[in-house]
Amino acid sequence: ARAAAVIPAAGLGLRLGPGAPKALRPIGGVPMLVHAVRAMARSGAVGLVVVVAPAERLSLVSSLLAEHPPPPSVEVSVVAGGATRQESVRLGLAALPADVTVVLVHDAARPLVPVATVDAVAAAVRAGAPAVVPALPVTDTVKAVAAPAVAGEPEPVVATPDRALLRAVQTPQGFDRETLLAAHRASTSDLATDDAGLVELLGVPVVLVPGHEEAFKVTRPLDLLLAEALLARRRT
Ligand code: C5P
Repeated sequence: ARAAAVIPAAGLGLRLGPGAPKALRPIGGVPMLVHAVRAMARSGAVGLVVVVAPAERLSLVSSLLAEHPPPPSVEVSVVAGGATRQESVRLGLAALPADVTVVLVHDAARPLVPVATVDAVAAAVRAGAPAVVPALPVTDTVKAVAAPAVAGEPEPVVATPDRALLRAVQTPQGFDRETLLAAHRASTSDLATDDAGLVELLGVPVVLVPGHEEAFKVTRPLDLLLAEALLARRRT
């Protein structure tokens, strides 16, 4: 069986400023979520895409996807999301048919991930890795901080981890289905911001493959400008 992609798209995207839920905001005139679905569907590895939409926007999301259908070789379904990303992913996983053995989890907020990255993640899972994450070196130096003694005061720095040993991770993250289900079942909080972190807690090895700059996450207004520019360049 081909892999399934679960796309959590139920976030509000408040850091992007006021407006529609993030996944529904347009880039190049097309909702971010549609770009994300296309990015998964373009990979020959993916046969099913499960979109996890804001519960109160299910019919809107279904009609947007009907307006912008993926190739007929790929099936798309829409389910309602939850209050956190982790809960939304869990709800997406619950909607997978029994024959799916490889699952990619991909943020709607990374609409322009290249197909080569999707293929590379899926191939590494197929080759036997239980959990595979695309990642890039970090370009900024990163500081660990503590809470200030008085709220609003400057934050005290606690440590400066060696940048050469840090990676910024992206999606799609790819998993052996049973491993990912077990990781979500074992989790005691609902606050994980990536799925591989839950697998790490099980003691199952997680490996990195090269990510791609164009798989960046659209979080803040500047990211929207970058996404528009990148898409315009791809279209010329
Ligand atoms: O907030 P952040 O950018 O990390 O969100 C990553 C992804 O998780 C986004 O695609 C967002 O729509 C999704 N999400 C979700 N359900 C939530 C919160 C976020 O599906 N409750």
